Amino acid sequence: MEIVVRKMDLSDISFVYEEEVKIFGNSLGEKTLYNEIIYNEMSRYYIVCVDKKRAGYVGSWLTIPNAEILNLFVIEKYRGLGLGKLLMNEVIKTCMEEHIEMLTLEVRVSNEYAIFMYKELGFVQGGIRKNYYSNGEDALLLTLNIGGKI
Ligand SMILES: CC(C)(COP(=O)(O)OP(=O)(O)OC[C@H]1O[C@@H](n2cnc3c(N)ncnc32)[C@H](O)[C@@H]1OP(=O)(O)O)[C@@H](O)C(=O)NCCC(=O)NCCS
Repeated sequence: MEIVVRKMDLSDISFVYEEEVKIFGNSLGEKTLYNEIIYNEMSRYYIVCVDKKRAGYVGSWLTIPNAEILNLFVIEKYRGLGLGKLLMNEVIKTCMEEHIEMLTLEVRVSNEYAIFMYKELGFVQGGIRKNYYSNGEDALLLTLNIGGKI
């Protein structure tokens, strides 16, 4: 199995859009994804491919001195292979190179699988955002201390 993580480009937009709608029921939208890639200097988006097929993506913003994960998914048939962690580690590596202090993200309180993965990566619970999602569900705020200066 050949696994490659690379920067997202314009050719990946329809994949990300379609899978986000399937997995989350909504998406940042194709136009926003386009603008993120072309114009937003803060954005870092990565795609993971398995045997040249797109398998997942992660989007992040470096809002220096901190950074945040905007979204992450691995398509169902490739889950449990370590690709989610691989994508997260790519963002964490970027954060280290950019001397980021804290990496943060929000996750649904019901998303035990993702929460487990984030905790394995060293994220700790920062707080709860009540009614964060449109269905009224709370978000868990998780943070990873990157440390700023190397
Ligand atoms: C969350 C998600 C990205 C994880 O991706 P993944 O590629 O399956 O994750 P990994 O294979 O890297 O697994 C991460 C860890 O979860 C654990 N894990 C694996 N399979 C598991 C299972 N069936 N149940 C519980 N934990 C499991 C493992 O411990 C694994 O770490 P390890 O094997 O290195 O010890 C993926 O499940 C997904 O896209 N979910 C839907 C979208 C989503 O919830 N995104 C996150 C929004 S915040």
